Amino acid sequence: MSTTTGEARAIVVSGMRPTGKLHLGHLLGTLRNWTTLQQQFDCYFFVADWHVLTTDYEHPEHVSEFALEMVMDWLAAGLDPERCVIFQQSAILEHAELALLLGMLTPVSWLERNPTYKDQRQQLKGKDLSTFGFLGYPVLQAADILLYKGTRVPVGEDQVPHVELTRDIARRFNNYYGPTLPEPEALLSPAPRVPGTDGRKMSKSYGNAILLDEDPESIDKRLGRMTTDPRRVRRTDPGDPKDCPAFQLHQIYCTPEEIATVTEGCKSAGIGCLDCKKIMIKHVLAELAPLRERRAELVAEPDQVREVVAAGTAKAHVVARETMGEVRTAIGL
Ligand code: TRP
Ligand code: SF4
Repeated sequence: MSTTTGEARAIVVSGMRPTGKLHLGHLLGTLRNWTTLQQQFDCYFFVADWHVLTTDYEHPEHVSEFALEMVMDWLAAGLDPERCVIFQQSAILEHAELALLLGMLTPVSWLERNPTYKDQRQQLKGKDLSTFGFLGYPVLQAADILLYKGTRVPVGEDQVPHVELTRDIARRFNNYYGPTLPEPEALLSPAPRVPGTDGRKMSKSYGNAILLDEDPESIDKRLGRMTTDPRRVRRTDPGDPKDCPAFQLHQIYCTPEEIATVTEGCKSAGIGCLDCKKIMIKHVLAELAPLRERRAELVAEPDQVREVVAAGTAKAHVVARETMGEVRTAIGL
């Protein structure tokens, strides 16, 4: 597809692994960006269910349930199937075929050097990740992107090495078989650091996450207890917002006037922490309320959500077949 200037239109491809319920970090870090991108570009957003198996192959029993819930969150957050293609990786076997072919020309040393490979094996000690599939994670990811000739890949910082590897793999393919696959670029979209209730980065595994489907009373209670500047032991002890994890949420959500009030109140001990947090909590609840409502409608109609994924998968499949035709021809198969 071309724009009026004749310049190729960016193709955006990104995936998310269905590993459990989504939280505020996903909304602020990923889904807000995706909903903006769908207004401007040809976007493909998919459920990376095969990628879950690279680490959770021993316990795959919740993957399809998480996948459905994840798509419900996407739609509730504003992804619009009229404006982007929403599909499931494992329903398009061309992902596996392209991954296999790319694997032929990907040096193992590139994969062993991959920083996330090393980190994850360190961090996920309870799992045996000395598998072919886990080493090949970035090859499958390269196939995900190149199958749709993606040119922009919106991801977090941690995924940049995977996009770089995708470029290297595409370049190697094109060198051997002639120009076929465009080299994509990572799109580092603006994403705030979202602290969890204990001040560490919000993550499901820390138990500090505000879930997108959490009820407002629970959110109110848990954010009300969120970690603050440790100097504010008593109500009369002054503090400093820059040392307060809760204040990072104020910065995301509050108006400049509210930030000024809170800053002054914190430093002068003129405001209590709970009252201070209430100012921010109000915004969090206001943002989540409509999402919650839409989500409830979707939960009541799971077949409609499955239908959205099936329709998106059919659209993506057309493109995937076309690219695979070109790939086979280029190789001479
Ligand atoms: N590895 C990505 C993550 O963990 C998920 C993913 C799989 C992905 N395939 C992709 C992201 C293709 C972008 C493009 O977040
Ligand atoms: Fe944090 Fe507000 Fe308490 Fe200051 S008053 S420590 S900014 S919650």
